[in-house]
Amino acid sequence: GIIPSYSYQYQGFWYSPITLQGIINCQKYFQPRENDIFLVTSPKSGTTWLKAILFALVNREAHPPQDPHHPLLSKTPHQLVPFLEFLHPSEYDSLCNSSDSSSRIFATHISLGTLPKAITGDSGSLNCKIVYLCRDIKDTFVSLFHFGNNKKTSPISLEDAFNLYCKGISSAGPIWDQILGYWKESQKNQHKVLFMRYEEMKDEPYLQLRRLANFLGIPFSQEEESSGLVDQIISICSFESMTKVDVNKTGTFVDGFNNSSFFRKGVVGDWKNCLTADMASRLDQITEEKFRGSGLSL
Ligand code: PPS
Repeated sequence: GIIPSYSYQYQGFWYSPITLQGIINCQKYFQPRENDIFLVTSPKSGTTWLKAILFALVNREAHPPQDPHHPLLSKTPHQLVPFLEFLHPSEYDSLCNSSDSSSRIFATHISLGTLPKAITGDSGSLNCKIVYLCRDIKDTFVSLFHFGNNKKTSPISLEDAFNLYCKGISSAGPIWDQILGYWKESQKNQHKVLFMRYEEMKDEPYLQLRRLANFLGIPFSQEEESSGLVDQIISICSFESMTKVDVNKTGTFVDGFNNSSFFRKGVVGDWKNCLTADMASRLDQITEEKFRGSGLSL
């Protein structure tokens, strides 16, 4: 039989034992602060890219995108914006990746219902913001499959990975349930949750960056817009630029994964090169059934 690394189901979602420990830690010990920003994604939906964009956007005064010493040129997006569930509790408070010391940026794959209540609850006065990013399910699956197979210790066939994925058994899956949770919250609570798509970021990055800046309460000034700052942020975070940065090409993320494995093709529609027509229509059909009536289509 197949023993995937994400072998624990917790509050309806699948995680690896290490991730689950991290989630339980943050449910117990994490204290959100005023203005904290949480980037939530399903694995392989563009997390690394949006980490870079968020960091560059939030810190644009301290670190102008054209600065030859910009942190994105010497650190990986994962070092600058860590995953909440991969941090040790002693690291929560030391994290300072924003020029405003009271506001921090975290990323996570945790579902809405599992996030620490202090982040989501609207009873408190905390102005925490959630940026949710999703991607076409077929492209997300294909990206995840390639990523998993980078790790030489646990190769899995495309068919096995696909069948598990369709059953919702994948890292932080079922992906549909995770997306729907944040989608519904974004419809109810527009000031709290911004729902973004990888394909829209590719298609109209300028518009999406403006939307993101407005949502975070740090809109671009007219001066910034006319100086070309928005395009400069888009440019330093592009797949082309990021894959030229040494630290993104070398070094390891964690045991068994290279930093370079977070950058593969960075395009829309690569599923066509990997999935059969039957596989594609099966995924599309599940997506349609799961999202029916929600107003969401992917
Ligand atoms: S993870 O493990 O969840 O953090 O992975 P994640 O970053 O979400 O997904 C990796 C995919 O995102 C692509 N990528 C990018 N696309 C566009 N622009 C930039 N800058 C960028 N950086 C990474 C990466 O290539 C993976 O997608 P695929 O389809 O496999 O190429």
